[in-house]
Amino acid sequence: MPRITCPVLADRVTTAEAAAELIRPGDSVGISGFTGAGYPKAVPAALARRIEAAHARGEEFTVGLWSGASTAPEVDGALAEVHGIDKRLPYNSDPTLRALINSGEVDYVDSHLSHSAQHMWFGFYGNLDVAVVEVAAILPNGLLVPGSSVGNNKTWLDQADRVILEVNSWQPRDFEGFHDIYYGTALPPHRFPLQLTHSFQRIGDPYLRVDPAKVLAVVETNAPDRNSAFKEPDEASRAMADLLVDFLRHEVKRGRMPADLLPLQSGVGNVANAVMAGLRVSEFENLTAFTEVIQDGMLDLIDSGTLRSVSATSFGLSPTGVQRFLDNVGAYKGKILLRSEEISNHPELVRRLGVIAINGMIEADIYGNVNSTHVMGSAIMNGIGGSGDFARNAFLNFFVSPSTAKDGAISAIVPMASHVDHTEHDVHVLVTEQGLADLRGLSPTDRAERVIANCAHPDYRDALTDYVERAKVARPTARHTPHLLTEALSWHARYLETGHM
Ligand code: COA
Repeated sequence: MPRITCPVLADRVTTAEAAAELIRPGDSVGISGFTGAGYPKAVPAALARRIEAAHARGEEFTVGLWSGASTAPEVDGALAEVHGIDKRLPYNSDPTLRALINSGEVDYVDSHLSHSAQHMWFGFYGNLDVAVVEVAAILPNGLLVPGSSVGNNKTWLDQADRVILEVNSWQPRDFEGFHDIYYGTALPPHRFPLQLTHSFQRIGDPYLRVDPAKVLAVVETNAPDRNSAFKEPDEASRAMADLLVDFLRHEVKRGRMPADLLPLQSGVGNVANAVMAGLRVSEFENLTAFTEVIQDGMLDLIDSGTLRSVSATSFGLSPTGVQRFLDNVGAYKGKILLRSEEISNHPELVRRLGVIAINGMIEADIYGNVNSTHVMGSAIMNGIGGSGDFARNAFLNFFVSPSTAKDGAISAIVPMASHVDHTEHDVHVLVTEQGLADLRGLSPTDRAERVIANCAHPDYRDALTDYVERAKVARPTARHTPHLLTEALSWHARYLETGHM
């Protein structure tokens, strides 16, 4: 069955090379893609070749690259390798690009994912010159069947001056009906409440819209998403998953949430995936998810019947997870809904639905400030992603991490976080393989005691306790959140000497 059945747009089919010619030096390019799903497979590679050739001729050629979130080596990696990116937003996890950001070559605007679309509409980012968006099909009337991620595609298609579409026949044609694209958003002061009161409710259309007059090229591809495999949950991840599931059990017993819980959000990474595996072997059933990314663990929960429905903006499956989904697409219809990221991560909805948010962290301090993004305060790891959207507005949030990094050389629990993404006012529960610290309703000094006792690795507990005790003595009139400022960050300075940075 042909994928491009709109006569006007069928006439614009061309090669990736010809399409890449439409992107000019200095352009801002809005690209599809989210956690390795739904990114354009051909045009970025052709653009990278074009940039490389221009550089070889001594010509300057860089672009601004705006996405939904992380893409894949064929996009961020390929363009970073030819030094073709001068600015990137709102999230990256590619190692080559990360190195260029940390070297100062690429400007990186690390923004909350729920903000990126509206900041575009508000005019905060300037003009968007080109959108390059992958879709699964183009219908006779020009409507677009989205693929394995939605991200910011609606906004890029709407805002860009010029549009390049990639129609990827690897994406299942049966994707039609898996999406809910909301076109009702307005600018303040003309906004209305979002009429979404349960996590799987449809409030939009199954299709993306584009003005055909702006579509200058359509490129046909047949290439898989490039997702990375998950590690089998290790002992530490399993321990954290058990603690977290047990805590949810406790919350139900105390009458603080219903037996089928509240909608789950689970962040990216192996620990989050392990928590999903922990839920699968628990007694919980009839669960729902209002999340950003669907990892393998969520597919397992759907397959086992533990999870009734998932609302997200993207898949983030391993290669085996992708195959499992492709083999059973029909069975997942009616259980999975993909939305734009301004809706999947919307603070109003996260707060109203009462989401349970579970996200990874790099470090937490003894008072509960969480760093999700920076190593030793300076080098970006990935970015804040949706963690702030969900955690800040959640009914209950968890931040999870092994208690140490780099084979025990670094404690994930420190006196003062070297960078703060989630403040002590926003953080509810910290979990490491050592234990869980429920910080709700505690004063800073009570929090410190609990975090050190429950979450810090035994190798670091005495030093952390000693720090707090000395801080209390040093400044008797400043004991609300006791700190020894000149010493606080010396923990990080010590790690620098270990050669891990
Ligand atoms: N100091 C130095 N390095 C640290 C560290 C610390 N305290 N904690 C972790 N790291 C390093 C690890 O050593 C590892 O490095 P490597 O890639 O060189 O091996 C890397 O950070 C990733 O850590 P890992 O233990 O594998 O955890 P993860 O895959 O669960 O990722 C985050 C943890 C915080 C990086 C990840 O959750 C993230 O990017 N979060 C922010 C975005 C987010 O939460 N998105 C979800 C919203 S839906």
